[in-house]
Amino acid sequence: MQIHVYQTPELAAEAAATLIASEILAKPNAVIGLPTGSSPVETYRRLARMNRDGVVDFSKVTTFNLDEYVGLKGDHPQSYRRFMNENLFDHVNIDKENTHVPCGIGDVEANAVAYEEAIAAAGGIDLQFMGIGRNGHIGFNEPADAYTDVTGIIELTPSTIDANKRFFDSADDVPRKAISMGVGTIMRARKTLLIATGSDKAEAIRTLVKGPVSPKLPASALRMHANAVIILDAAAASLLD
Ligand code: GLP
Repeated sequence: MQIHVYQTPELAAEAAATLIASEILAKPNAVIGLPTGSSPVETYRRLARMNRDGVVDFSKVTTFNLDEYVGLKGDHPQSYRRFMNENLFDHVNIDKENTHVPCGIGDVEANAVAYEEAIAAAGGIDLQFMGIGRNGHIGFNEPADAYTDVTGIIELTPSTIDANKRFFDSADDVPRKAISMGVGTIMRARKTLLIATGSDKAEAIRTLVKGPVSPKLPASALRMHANAVIILDAAAASLLD
């Protein structure tokens, strides 16, 4: 696991965008796994700028998002499909047909099976980008007694509902379930990139780097990944010394 620490969240985003752009430059038809949340927003802004400036071309790129709330249609203001359109896809020359976000409506179990099949049909994920929840979740894989494997339905924990209620009118409006890639799906990506900024994430990062590899902190699985990069700002790294 390579850990890079930057003084500011902006520099951390610059580094993450550079790494993703490098992947696409090296493999124009790369398959990239993408997160939502506040952590990747600055990285997406920089990727959009690089695309606008002609540095990186998204026309052959395929993406798979980590997760989506169960029960929210793609046009719901808090759906992750809408988030991705607004924060990245509408600002780069990607073919929307090649952007995949798990579907949280209809037969969600069947949607999860189809999502894994689509990832396999695309040749697997070259680079999986992600954030981390305050409780160490990746995607929506919450602390548990065992790691999840494939894409499936997850019950959100009170900690995650509390963390995400800021995006909804109230905590009661936060969906209780999500569809998420499993930890196994994430681990099968050929490379992984986790970004964390801010002191809220410092404890999860300390446990990720120094604690046991355990499904109680799902992100700790990345310690077992052969090609994992962690990008932090100084605040997120503050408990590492
Ligand atoms: C959500 C997402 C995660 C994300 C986490 C952290 O729960 N499902 O993929 O990593 O929030 O969000 P933020 O980056 O806003 O702290």
